[in-house]
Amino acid sequence: MQRLTTISAVRAASRKARAENRRIALVPTMGALHEGHLALVEQAGREADVVLVSIFVNPAQFGPGEDYETYPRVLEADEDLLRQQGVATHVFAPTVQEMYPDGPAAQRAAVIVDQLTDTLCGAYRSGHFDGVTTVVSMLLHIAQPHVAVFGQKDAQQLAVIRRMVRDLHLPVDIVAVPTVREPDGLARSSRNAYLSPAERAQAPVLYNALRAAAEAVREGELQGRPLVRRMQARVADAPLAEPQYIEVIDADDLLPVDDLQPGQRILLALAVYFGDTRLIDNIPITVPSRT
Ligand code: PAJ
Repeated sequence: MQRLTTISAVRAASRKARAENRRIALVPTMGALHEGHLALVEQAGREADVVLVSIFVNPAQFGPGEDYETYPRVLEADEDLLRQQGVATHVFAPTVQEMYPDGPAAQRAAVIVDQLTDTLCGAYRSGHFDGVTTVVSMLLHIAQPHVAVFGQKDAQQLAVIRRMVRDLHLPVDIVAVPTVREPDGLARSSRNAYLSPAERAQAPVLYNALRAAAEAVREGELQGRPLVRRMQARVADAPLAEPQYIEVIDADDLLPVDDLQPGQRILLALAVYFGDTRLIDNIPITVPSRT
């Protein structure tokens, strides 16, 4: 596995792979890799011959007061994990200077997906998704992969990136991987490391709340509001949990749904604070047809 730190080195590796008719998969990450990231890399290995994992804590997607400075940066440990797994062929770990030579604030061009970024996390993290779509499109232009792999864990990010690729006719297939969880149901996240033992013990309430609502949909509930109330009640069982949003939304336009239609693809989604740590989770479901 090769570590690349410059854009020109990635371009050269990508050109070489394409000249040899080898398929390239890109797995964008911010590092502090865990089982969730490794599942994406595993999938990338099934999709392509050359698997490039980017590790870059992107300053442009963090808002003021968010955790950009404290976000875990453990490149050596990340590379050890990837080496053990044996799927990644290249790691791209650029400096901020390499990606934003004049600093992120001096960047005049951006890629913006509107509307889909106004709801859910976008409503609370102003500019976050502009930073994500801009850096992902930079990475796609640099690496020119055939496939790029993303996690369902960040459902809004996935929907926004799919829309960017579709609207801009970007020549890449987006592949999604289901959320990888701890044995108690907590979605794996680099931010779980911030949780105190007491917070960690209560954090499975996110998935429990989502599952309770998913179960209600399976049993025939077709109204959004009672589903939201059911999730709110579950989250309220955890005294340390402070919900930011709890919603039932359409999986395509990401707008809240009140009347669920049989066959409709929806997301049960929530964001909950434990102290300063913000956790998100979701379950995608297709509303069952009446028989
Ligand atoms: P990061 O949070 O490091 O996540 C990288 C990828 O791993 C994303 O596609 C995310 O959805 C996926 N992922 C994280 N936890 C997961 C889990 N438990 N199960 C499955 N997949 C999981 O998302 C970002 O970085 C950044 O916004 C990025 C796309 C790299 C742009 O900077």
